[in-house]
Parts: sequence; structure tokens; C-alpha cells
Amino acid sequence: MTLFETVFSGNDAVYGLTEGAINAAIEQHGADKAVSFPNTAYSLPCYYAVTGVKVNTLGELKEALGVVKTLMTREMRTHDIFMSGVATALCAEFIEVLKYIDGATPYEEPCYGHLADAVIRELGVPLVTGDIPGVAVILGKAPTTEDAVALVKSYQAQGILVTLVGDVIDQLTEAGMKTGANVRVIPLGKDVTSVIHVVSVALRAALIFGNITPGDAGNLMKYTMERVPAFVNAFAPLNDVIVACGAGAIALGFPVITNQEGVSEVPKSLIVQTDVSKFNATSLEARDIKIKITNIDIPVAFASAFEGEIIRRGDMQVEFDGSRVDCAELVQTVDASEIEDHKITVVGPEADEMELGSKNNIAYVVKVAGKNMQSDFEPVIERKFHNYINCIEGVYHTGQRDMQRIRISKDAFNAGFRIKHIGEVLYASVKNEFDAVVDKCEVVIYTDPAECTRIRHEVAIPTFDKRDDRLKSLTDESVDVYYSCILCQAFSPSHVCVVTPERLGLCGAVSWLDAKATNELDPNGPCQVITKERPIDERIGEYEDVNEAVQKFSQGALQDVSLYSIMEKPMTSCGCFECICGIEPFSNGVVITNREYAGMTPLGMTFPELASMTGGGVQTPGFMGHGKHFIGSKKFMKAEGGIERIVWMPKELKETVAERVNQTAKELYGIDNFIDMVGDETIATDPEELVAFLTEKNHPALSMDPMM
Ligand code: SF4
Ligand code: NI
Ligand code: NI
Repeated sequence: MTLFETVFSGNDAVYGLTEGAINAAIEQHGADKAVSFPNTAYSLPCYYAVTGVKVNTLGELKEALGVVKTLMTREMRTHDIFMSGVATALCAEFIEVLKYIDGATPYEEPCYGHLADAVIRELGVPLVTGDIPGVAVILGKAPTTEDAVALVKSYQAQGILVTLVGDVIDQLTEAGMKTGANVRVIPLGKDVTSVIHVVSVALRAALIFGNITPGDAGNLMKYTMERVPAFVNAFAPLNDVIVACGAGAIALGFPVITNQEGVSEVPKSLIVQTDVSKFNATSLEARDIKIKITNIDIPVAFASAFEGEIIRRGDMQVEFDGSRVDCAELVQTVDASEIEDHKITVVGPEADEMELGSKNNIAYVVKVAGKNMQSDFEPVIERKFHNYINCIEGVYHTGQRDMQRIRISKDAFNAGFRIKHIGEVLYASVKNEFDAVVDKCEVVIYTDPAECTRIRHEVAIPTFDKRDDRLKSLTDESVDVYYSCILCQAFSPSHVCVVTPERLGLCGAVSWLDAKATNELDPNGPCQVITKERPIDERIGEYEDVNEAVQKFSQGALQDVSLYSIMEKPMTSCGCFECICGIEPFSNGVVITNREYAGMTPLGMTFPELASMTGGGVQTPGFMGHGKHFIGSKKFMKAEGGIERIVWMPKELKETVAERVNQTAKELYGIDNFIDMVGDETIATDPEELVAFLTEKNHPALSMDPMM
């Protein structure tokens, strides 16, 4: 059979199955039965992205199938192959959505099935920073279990996000390999149609970050081809259906690598690699993915894929716990003459001298020297320790400053991992990432309890106090410049964040100090200096210089932004914001919700639904994405009256920001315990009940001017 015949026949087969399944479902449930995937604002995301139509019921699904049929042209042109591939993918989405009828949960551990919008938003930052350099879709059954494990591990070690479809899932389970989103290995499902759940991620990324208009199929495919670094590894034997799905992948710009002999190759798109151990290299080359290598001399793996790994009590060799004993982590700027580069010292017992399962002290001081080093960069470097230590396979880190907690697993210990290796990791990572400011670096790790107490109380805490005072004195007025950040342009081509001391980037990961350091490290990089010498309107925080910068960095897509208003010229959102706030007309206030909160808000919309209304680098007055930390800022919506306008937040978010919000409300308005006046989901999720609660609490927003 030719490639044409194979794709057409696979497409026809899936179409027939889909038609049968939809008819059967209508017979059983009726045409008005609702159909949708859970936790998405995009209905059937693939069909919606391609056609611009949201399917809500089985009857509409049947109509949609008629539209899919029109894609299935049968001429012998490449275009017909691609469209039949897309049609096959859409049929797969229809078959999958039927599994979710009546709120069913068709997938069980370890499989994920449909992935929520929130997952895609979380992937935003690591994808733009290159922390996740690519997305692998592995399909079918590897020649042997060992081949399967080796391939997945090779991607994991590079930080590549792996999704799995079919028998390879059982192969990994059989080998006892840990899977899950936290280690970047996501089994989707055993049926080949479950591959649509990763396609759905790619297409939603285009809608969320790319501001692609649903239905604009041409730009949709251009976006995935240029910006979503995905590829497919399909194991032999291939059947017609898999080949037809593969054609869909290629239409989106995702190359397919297979070990099936005799397939007619398409350069850069359909590639035969009979040696499975070379799948990794062949795939990266085909998709043009470059891997940053950090070579660190330790006995276990070091990769960002291990960042989310958790070590349970029973699996741990030793633990260090700053909440129970004296611990600290600290960067100290010293004179170059005082340190020796790459010297690592452990003062006190090593891990083999500690009792199994015991809680111990640890304090590491990373001394750095460099002519461009500034004390403002110390906390920026220090905050990265969490990522660095977490990337070690079998080591887990939480917290910071003198409250960190570290666990070393038995597996890592048995592989030879010791405390001194934490020093190696800190040394190599700091030198690698901060080479522009750090010329020399030495690490001293204290495990001796008395020394830890001394370092913590006499060195670390006084340093932290000094830094906190410095941070408090950093206001938008007290600095001469702000910074732009355009990291997210990889996915949101016209988005620009303006980062100020009192307004961090909306992802929550870039503060003014971070931006300053990024600029210093890479003067032509994503963060550029923005002067603020020509104010236009202090009330909303608008400057001629800021507008000029935004015009330049958005390539003309944006003309003007304000720093302090959500109604007038608000800042744009890319899509990876931690929170979104939107106006609540009945109370004259705003509702804020965060990515982690899956429930309803008084606006009648969930986080994904609200989030789908903003993003992609366009201004949407009345809605704004922002970082969690911005909520307690005196500059939060200052133009509209500030944090006094906040009428509702999810309970957990309230708890996280309570201290700073209360402090700001006291300072600005003299209100005590303002957070208690703010509603949450345990109080109300409908506007009338919320207003009743606010009235009872005498919430200030009620007597303020309407926002529109
Ligand atoms: Fe993206 Fe803005 Fe965060 Fe930069 S500061 S990474 S542009 S969200
Ligand atoms: Ni103490
Ligand atoms: Ni972003």
C-alpha cells in the first residue's frame, strides 16, 4: 500500500468507529445529552481550535462529525494526507469525549487521559525558559522493556516531557519505573485515541499563549509547527490507524520517528530509525531541539525532570529539617583573595555517619566572588538552590533561608550520594547559570550542630534581616529604572511584562531584583532597562518611556500600558499567570482566583474560563493576570482604589496572602484584619450571597464608585 492508501484507510476506519460510537451514545442518552472534557474552557479543544465551534451536546457532536467528513478528501495530494490526519485526530477526540459522559472518570492510575487547562498554564514558564526543551509522544510497544525504560530515561535526563500511549505504559509499570507529571513522564492511556490528549495540550497552548483565533486553522498549525517543540516516537508494528494519526502529527509540524522498516520516508517529518537506542538523537535532530548540558560529577542523575520528585519517609536515608533544628542556606559575597574556586568542605559528620532515618542539622554557605557581583544578586542566586538541589535524582528540597528541608533517599545514598555532592551541585549550577557575575565559588557545608547554630544565628539571620530591610525600601518611586521581560514571547509573541519593585512578573517568578540580575547576566537577554523619566499620569502609572519600550518590545502590537490600573490600558497577559482578577459588578469590587483553585467563583466562571478571556498578549480591560505576591502590594489596582476592591478569593489563596494584605490595608486605609472581610468559596460562590456577606462585614468596596 502507498502512504496515501494507508492514511486514507486508517482515517476511514477511525471515522467509521466514531460514527458508530456517536450513534450508539445518542441512542442511549438522547441527542441533548451534554458532552465535554473536564477542567477546560475550550469544550472539545481540538475541534474548537480547528473550527472555532464549541460542541456542547451529542447532537452537536454528530453535526461536527459531518464537518470532519468534509476534511476527508481523497485526492492524491500531500494536502489530502494532512487533512485526513487532522480528521483522524478529531475523530479520536470525539471517541475520547464520549468516555467522559455523565462526569465519568474513565482513566485510572497511572493513566491521565484528558489534561486540565491548568496543566498547560503550568508548563508555560518551563517551556519558555527551555527548562522543558521538548515534548515526546511515545506510542506503541518498545522491542523490549529495557528499550522502553532506556528511551524514557534518556528524555527524562534531558528534561523533556514524555507522554505515553499504548503498551509502552505496561512496559514501564513492569519495570517498576515511577511515572507521573511530577517526574515529567505522563502515561495518557492504552487506546491509541488517547494520543489526542497531548495534541489537545499543543492546540490549547496556541489558544492560551498564542492568541490564535479558534477556527484559524492555518495560523494554528503555523503556531504548533514553530513554537511547540513536540515529536512522535512510534514503535513498530504500525497499523493504518497509527499512520493516519501520524499524518495528523506531521500536519501540526511534529516529526514522527519509527523503527518500522519499509515505510516511505518524508524528509524531516517521517523518519525511519531502526535502532531504537538512537530514537532520542534522531528525534532531537529532526525537531531541532538543543539540550543545555550541565555536567556535574555526582553518582546520581541531575535533571529538571526530577524537580517534582517526592521522597517518602520510608524511602529516605537521612533528613535535614530547618523547622526542627538549626539549618541555613546562604550566598555570601567575598573578596576573590579569600576563596579557592571549586573547593568543597564538609564540616561535621557525612551522611554515612548519620543514623538511618534521622533528622540532622545542615547549613551551606556558598561564597562567591566576581567583579560584577552585587549583594542584590545574593538572594537571586540563593533562591535557585531549591531548583538545583531538587534536580538531583533521589534528593528532595523544600523551603528556603533557615527553614529548608532536605531528604536524601536510600537509593541515592546506596548509589554513593553524599553531603559533599550537594556542594558539587551548588558549585556547578551557580557557576553555570551565573557565570557573568560569579568568577570564583567555594562551598562550605556544616553538619556539626554547634556550627550550624552559629551560622544560622550569627551569620544567616542577620543577613536575611538586612536584606528584608533593603526589600522594604525598594518601591516604585525609590528606583530609577524598571525592567521589561519578554521571556514568554516564545509562546506569546506580543506579550511584554513591565517589572517594577512593587509589581513582579505575572508568572510570579520574576521580581525586580531577578530582572535586574537577568539583565546584568545577559545584557541582550529578555530583561531590558526601562527608564521612567517622563510620567504621563501618575494615578494609573503611565510613562512615555514605558510606552515606548512596550511598543518596541511588542513589535508595535501594544501602544500603551499602565502599571496600576486594570480598567485603563492594563498590562497584557501571556497565559502563565498565577492569578487572574476580574471585576465583580454587584459589589464594585474584584474577584481574584488562582490556578490551583478548580472550583467556581462568584463571576460564574472557573479559573480556566476566566483565564481563557485574557492572555495571548492582548489587553482586556476589567481582567488581568498577575502574580500572587502582587496582591499585597500597595500598587495593586491603585488607580481603582487598591486592595480595598478585593471582595473574594479562594480560601487557600487568602491564607497565603493574609499577612501582607492585612498589613497593606492597615497602612493604606487603617482597616484591621481586612482579609476577614473578603469572601471565599466556603462563604459564597454566587454574587447575591457574596454581597450579603460583604454588607454584613461592611466591606469598603460597597460604598466605592462603580468601576465601569
Ligand atoms: Fe513571562 Fe512575564 Fe514571567 Fe517574564 S515576567 S517569564 S514575560 S510572565
Ligand atoms: Ni537555634
Ligand atoms: Ni508567560
